[in-house]
Amino acid sequence: MRSSNKLKVSLAATAVASLIAVTGCAANQPAGSAGGGTDKLEITSWWTSGSEADALNVLIDGVKKSSSGLSVDNAAVSGGGGANARQALAARLQAGSPPDSWQLHPAGQLKSYVDGGQVADLTDLWTQNNWAAQMPKDVAEAQQVGGKYYTVPIGVHRGNVLWTNPAVLSKANVTIDSATGVDGLIGSLKQVQAADVTPVCLGDKDIFASAELLESIIMSRTGADNWKKLFTGGYSFDSPEVKQALEDYKTILSLSNKDHSAITWDEAAKKMANGSCAVNLMGDWAYGELLNAGKKPGTDFSWVTFPGKEDVFDYVGDGFSIPAKNIPHADAANAWLKTLMDPKIQTEFAAKKGSIPALTTADISKLSPYQQEAAKSFAKASVVSSLAHAQASTAEFAQTYADAVSTLNGSGNVSAFVASMTQAQKTQLK
Ligand code: GAL
Repeated sequence: MRSSNKLKVSLAATAVASLIAVTGCAANQPAGSAGGGTDKLEITSWWTSGSEADALNVLIDGVKKSSSGLSVDNAAVSGGGGANARQALAARLQAGSPPDSWQLHPAGQLKSYVDGGQVADLTDLWTQNNWAAQMPKDVAEAQQVGGKYYTVPIGVHRGNVLWTNPAVLSKANVTIDSATGVDGLIGSLKQVQAADVTPVCLGDKDIFASAELLESIIMSRTGADNWKKLFTGGYSFDSPEVKQALEDYKTILSLSNKDHSAITWDEAAKKMANGSCAVNLMGDWAYGELLNAGKKPGTDFSWVTFPGKEDVFDYVGDGFSIPAKNIPHADAANAWLKTLMDPKIQTEFAAKKGSIPALTTADISKLSPYQQEAAKSFAKASVVSSLAHAQASTAEFAQTYADAVSTLNGSGNVSAFVASMTQAQKTQLK
């Protein structure tokens, strides 16, 4: 599935068609009815890289332990950031043949599923289990739309982390200091270039990777408050800070590996750790992936928060919902959601994934120093939501952003980017 985007899409469509054929009986149930069986469970996600698959297996093993005899169909669709998986899911929802549960981001992306009447209201489950009291208020709120809960959170990722190769930086005699902001970062990257090493590893075969790089630069230039106002009104993509960020982005792109659109996020992270370049911007699922690849934190790779004028935590939440209609195995889906909200499972999952648990009742004392640091930062930094991951806004607005980033990568045309985003602010964020 890695040779071209078109191929990926057509394979995903074939996979969907065969999945529909396999689970076709589900579509025969009347709308709103719930199958009662606990023997089977089908879940979809985009967790297919080494660390993602291992972390997902923690959840699958957990639900199997809680429901003896359960067989779980892991229908993950490859493609980092999930664009392919969501496309496949949309086709199944349209066909009335949903899986029992699917991965999604809270807030904006969740709202799009709620507006479409596609996800079940889980408020009773939340109340019975008193889940809201076991997590930070911000996390609980992100799982709600209009005061009702529609999803459960499995973990909290940070999107704006700059992963670094200590040996490459020291050979070039360069240090990277978050406090020096984007100007300082660009200066350091140019020094790396002068030492004849590619400064930046980027893998944006799936466009979310460059969308995430650009958003890290934008939030560094605007600060957290103005970043939030981009989605609520009162701040424009036409501002001097955003335009500066776009110019910075073009500079950083020019300092990246030329084959960036041909490689995936995990390949780029590993290239950095193998010494092909000095830095890689990626969410902290890269931490899980580098551990999974046998790399040693602090030796093979290190990290700083993406340089900016304040400590911003770009929150990327992962969770699962269940369908509002035509759920094939309601009891098994219920057991799945409860497994996800088991503090022990959240800790075990985080250890493989690089995230921190959503539940504050989960023990993080044995998680890595990086994760301890991320947990502290999540509690005290300015927390904002990711646009690249459709959390800061609806899925529609995030898609406009992803498309505008793709166009910008090809054309370098900042004015066209600003024009399409300001237009979308007017028409899509009402
Ligand atoms: C994000 C997701 C992460 C990670 C990443 C790369 O959307 O939140 O858990 O999987 O995509 O695939």
